[in-house]
Amino acid sequence: MERPTIRTYKIRGTRITNAQTLSINAHWAKFGIEPEDQILDPKEIFPNADRVVMEIGFGMGESTAQVIQQFPKTGFIGVEVHQPGIGALMIYAAQNGSENLRIIEEDATFLLAKNFADNSLDAVHLFFPDPWPKTKHNKRRIVQPSFVALVAAKLKTGGEFRIATDWKPYADYMESVFAQQNLLIGGIVERPEWRSMSKFESKGIRKKHIVTDFLYTKV
Ligand SMILES: C[S@@+](CC[C@H](N)C(=O)[O-])C[C@H]1O[C@@H](n2cnc3c(N)ncnc32)[C@H](O)[C@@H]1O
Repeated sequence: MERPTIRTYKIRGTRITNAQTLSINAHWAKFGIEPEDQILDPKEIFPNADRVVMEIGFGMGESTAQVIQQFPKTGFIGVEVHQPGIGALMIYAAQNGSENLRIIEEDATFLLAKNFADNSLDAVHLFFPDPWPKTKHNKRRIVQPSFVALVAAKLKTGGEFRIATDWKPYADYMESVFAQQNLLIGGIVERPEWRSMSKFESKGIRKKHIVTDFLYTKV
């Protein structure tokens, strides 16, 4: 299987701080997973968890670190391509003594297709995916019909796909993508009170962006 040719993320260079590198080195054995060619079984990763959630694109991890503390019985698999963010989240998780987190450095689309069985995840979280506001870049948005079909396949029946965005044109675009399929049903919901605010979200709010939360459930 090839990695997708269209990147949904910006290449930001690898400006990583010493603390982030040290944290990855110190905590990779505890938090890191290198799936290679295996099919990962969320139940094996978190045998005692009530549910297993995959979070796609946790950024610098400040919101994720707080969410995982609120749900200590839930297993979280954080997926990110940006190494400094991986280091940053490991710093928080180690400081907090979090036991319910694993981290995978990979393109989530590729990872889901290659390393997860269908009907294996209880929820997928996608908070503030890169909005790619220019029309010529819209094709780089992660929410596309093929991606929604992929997430739908990997969720269990009754599983939840939660999304938040601060870019209204992307929210409208997402709704049009979900309207083209019938495996996931739902729409706009109130902001869940447990979804801690990331710096990315607060920056959007300062710029008067409207934040939209979606919840779709697999039927
Ligand atoms: C705009 S940031 C938001 C980060 C975070 N969720 C927040 O609220 O602050 C989007 C993140 O998604 C990551 N990302 C984009 N496409 C991805 C993909 N295909 N797989 C994994 N991570 C991805 C980027 O590296 C970036 O860190």
